[in-house]
Amino acid sequence: MNVLVVGANGQIGTLLVDKLKENDTHTPIAFVRKQEQVDKFQDKDVEARLGNLESSVSDIKKQMDGIDAVVFTAGSGGSTGTDKTMLIDLDGAVKVMEAAEDMNIKRFIMVSAFQADVRDNWNDDMKPYYAAKHYADRFLMNSDLEYTIVRPGALENEMGLGKVSITRALTEFTDPITIPREDVAELIVKALDNPKTYLQSFDVTSGDDPIEEALNTL
Ligand SMILES: NC(=O)c1ccc[n+]([C@@H]2O[C@H](COP(=O)([O-])OP(=O)(O)OC[C@H]3O[C@@H](n4cnc5c(N)ncnc54)[C@H](OP(=O)(O)O)[C@@H]3O)[C@@H](O)[C@H]2O)c1
Repeated sequence: MNVLVVGANGQIGTLLVDKLKENDTHTPIAFVRKQEQVDKFQDKDVEARLGNLESSVSDIKKQMDGIDAVVFTAGSGGSTGTDKTMLIDLDGAVKVMEAAEDMNIKRFIMVSAFQADVRDNWNDDMKPYYAAKHYADRFLMNSDLEYTIVRPGALENEMGLGKVSITRALTEFTDPITIPREDVAELIVKALDNPKTYLQSFDVTSGDDPIEEALNTL
């Protein structure tokens, strides 16, 4: 599959592009917002397309020619205000979904956030962020896209462990609620063409199950 990685210059995005590049069945295409980022990926022999999540759906569509699957792993980050959270994590995500639907791209993987589906579990300080993730996810679930919504716990930069815990409807919290970004990237690669993950949404943290085995339980 030709996989458009939206947020490719980010931390998960960078790991994901590298993993897709090593993979025999997929080809990464980086969606980034600055020319210097395009140049950086081209230097690594990765196709990169210049776009911005604050632009229009029709502009985003122009970067989607020849794409078979989209992974949305962009985010406004912790140093911007709620205005950017709404414009990137919510409206940016929805615009990419609308663009994918218009372009007849079916497969869509969303990097959401742990417990974004359960309002009662949102941290007070981060409610706007969770609300943005929640409604972006709901838009995706109501679309015609073949989605997978991945809700990782707190992201860490440690080396991947290759083992996770996947829960569709969490009933109790158990430690850890963290996960290395590398494991999230690996899970996305393995989920891309695994039909068991289609139309599924789940929390994922570090755990005891090899990633592929965990996905096959869905
Ligand atoms: N931090 C956590 O513990 C945590 C937990 C669960 C889920 N998540 C979610 O996981 C996802 C990935 O996390 P991460 O740490 O890899 O994120 P990250 O490093 O902050 O990367 C986010 C990327 O989004 C890009 N972006 C922002 N605004 C954009 C725009 N207008 N147009 C195009 N691209 C834009 C950024 O571009 P630039 O490189 O140009 O800035 C950046 O590359 C995010 O959606 C985050 O909300 C995070």
